[in-house]
Amino acid sequence: MQLDDLDTPSLILDLDGLDGNLDRYHGYFRQHGIGLRPHIKTHKCLAVAHRQLQCGSIGITCQKLGEAEVMLAGGAGGDVLIPYNIVGAAKLSRLAALARQTRVTVAADSEFTVRGLGQAARTGGAPIGVVIEVDCGRTGVGSAAAAVALGQLIQSQPGLELRGIMAMPTPPDIRPRLQEVLAAFDRAGLPHPIVSGGSTPAALTAHEIPELTEFRAGEYCVGGLAHLRRGTHTVAQCALRVLMTVVSRPTPGRAIVDGGSKALSASLYSDASGTCMGHVVEYPEARFVGASEEHGHLDVSACPEPPPIGTRVQVIPVHPCPCVNEHDEIVAIKGSRIEAIWPVHARGCSR
Ligand SMILES: Cc1ncc(COP(=O)(O)O)c(C=O)c1O
Repeated sequence: MQLDDLDTPSLILDLDGLDGNLDRYHGYFRQHGIGLRPHIKTHKCLAVAHRQLQCGSIGITCQKLGEAEVMLAGGAGGDVLIPYNIVGAAKLSRLAALARQTRVTVAADSEFTVRGLGQAARTGGAPIGVVIEVDCGRTGVGSAAAAVALGQLIQSQPGLELRGIMAMPTPPDIRPRLQEVLAAFDRAGLPHPIVSGGSTPAALTAHEIPELTEFRAGEYCVGGLAHLRRGTHTVAQCALRVLMTVVSRPTPGRAIVDGGSKALSASLYSDASGTCMGHVVEYPEARFVGASEEHGHLDVSACPEPPPIGTRVQVIPVHPCPCVNEHDEIVAIKGSRIEAIWPVHARGCSR
């Protein structure tokens, strides 16, 4: 089957772009001796996760338990990090079940979370690894002293294993904060075999924090409009796109495509030139200025030859992760040929 035969809107993934990104980033982490633990929330797809594991990933990262359950059932969950506070009885019993089947490490930043994890490990009868999250702007403990106190609490809980620390995101300038926590751990005799960094924008500077033992990156494998603008990914390296059709040209300067927020997600990108929702590959002068649910609104006034009705275009989303979550399938392509159609196995797994 050819790309031309595919109905729109469809989520497509260019395999040459994907594999090039895997070579590039996995090569970098191999060169610097840092384990890459891809964040599967970006693609939620077993086929992509297995490709990442074949490239030497040390395991996977899942934001949610539901994603981890799907990855484990599909043979990709041999070593899972969930960098999230698992709170509440329903999730803790699922975590205990997961820990009975695979090596699992979760994040914690409070006594409340740690006590729940301890209970889950004891009732489940399987060890649960814990890394303490250091605050870098979202969740996390606020000081080295608080990290040590939490580490000591983890060590006092039968069934829990203190495995180190994590932070999100980890640009080079957060190194002193990590060093301070690690020094305090050393003074208190606490182990830290894992020092986990994360985020694609900070991926290729990970070597500037030599304390990192592993790294969580999600979007690196497919790019996205923000990465295109930042210069870490070329258009060809932005491998995930939504194929759309121009369905209306209400005025000479406007084109409407059949993909809106339910195809791209509602993510916006803003810079000095304004706000947009995607990059139109074939018409780089077009601006994807807005969307309703099923309509994408393009300003095509700057295009030398604007697209007529019926034109099919590939749109690079601003943020691939929520975009994928809008689709049942990823259509894997090589050039104009369709190679495979992969389910988005963990779509909607937000618990
Ligand atoms: C805890 C954590 N680690 C890693 C990542 C991966 O970041 P990116 O998608 O920029 O690679 C995320 C993304 O939100 C995250 O929340």
